[in-house]
Amino acid sequence: MIFTEAEERFVADLSALYDKNEAKEIFSIVTEHLCGIKKSEWRSKKDGHLSPMEDTSILQVLDELSTGKPLQYVLGETMFYGARIKVNPDVLIPRPETEELVAWVISEVINNSQEPLSILDIGTGSGCIPIALKMNLPAADVHAIDISHHALETAMRNAVLNKAQINFVHGDILDAAFKLSHKFDVIVSNPPYIKASEKNEMHRNVLDHEPHLALFVEDDNALIFYERIAEFAQSHLKPFGKLFFEINEALAEDVATMLKEKSFKEIEVRKDMQGKDRMVKAVLLNSSDDTV
Ligand SMILES: C[S@@+](CC[C@H](N)C(=O)[O-])C[C@H]1O[C@@H](n2cnc3c(N)ncnc32)[C@H](O)[C@@H]1O
Repeated sequence: MIFTEAEERFVADLSALYDKNEAKEIFSIVTEHLCGIKKSEWRSKKDGHLSPMEDTSILQVLDELSTGKPLQYVLGETMFYGARIKVNPDVLIPRPETEELVAWVISEVINNSQEPLSILDIGTGSGCIPIALKMNLPAADVHAIDISHHALETAMRNAVLNKAQINFVHGDILDAAFKLSHKFDVIVSNPPYIKASEKNEMHRNVLDHEPHLALFVEDDNALIFYERIAEFAQSHLKPFGKLFFEINEALAEDVATMLKEKSFKEIEVRKDMQGKDRMVKAVLLNSSDDTV
């Protein structure tokens, strides 16, 4: 098979799931992954022949994609803020908007670090957030927690793969008794935030393949993670420590109000590249000393 024929098969076989441009983009990611051909080299190669091995692997990938399995799970990895992140159905596929959150954290702390910063990521999944932070803030002391043992195993493997030293801890942030033994300059979290009632508006390949533990909250308690993490931050942030959240665009105002009620200051909501309210930052002037 020549490359253009393979591309046409992708467009035809995936037409029920992806439009033509999406299918072509997927094809170019697959050829880069399997054949090492970059998008920029693609034009000169398009009439070239695939080797029998490439032919077989590309068609295997196409078969899996046709079932609705997301590309990142089929390839077993994705890129996140310059880090190679292995993914599997135990962990959420890192999203571009989370890269924007990481960029915000880095821009806020990169110049004001007199002493090594201490950072905690809550609900770490694949470990994409702490790994990207550690790679860009190498002096930082980075910690991460998740309730899922399987997610933590993947996150640890990703940290090794990216040579990022991170302290991973198993924990349930919703357990009011959960405490850590020191305080942080930055707490960041992309917690589960999709209301259960939004399930029917979601793409099947997210619903059928990504871990529901990472995605959903009850409709009548949509702020549960934000409230609990804000309370945890009150006792685990140093004075002037910063809290960063990724948020559901529909909850931006509610999250900002909740943070204000809990005495956080300098609350700022930011939009993502698609113009949706997607992240919030808040500062805690005085932390409580009762727990750590
Ligand atoms: C939306 S995912 C975010 C994953 C990753 N940080 C990212 O941005 O791609 C939320 C994560 O929170 C974890 N989680 C869910 N409930 C939790 C809890 N009660 N305590 C700690 N982590 C929890 C899930 O296992 C999942 O990895």
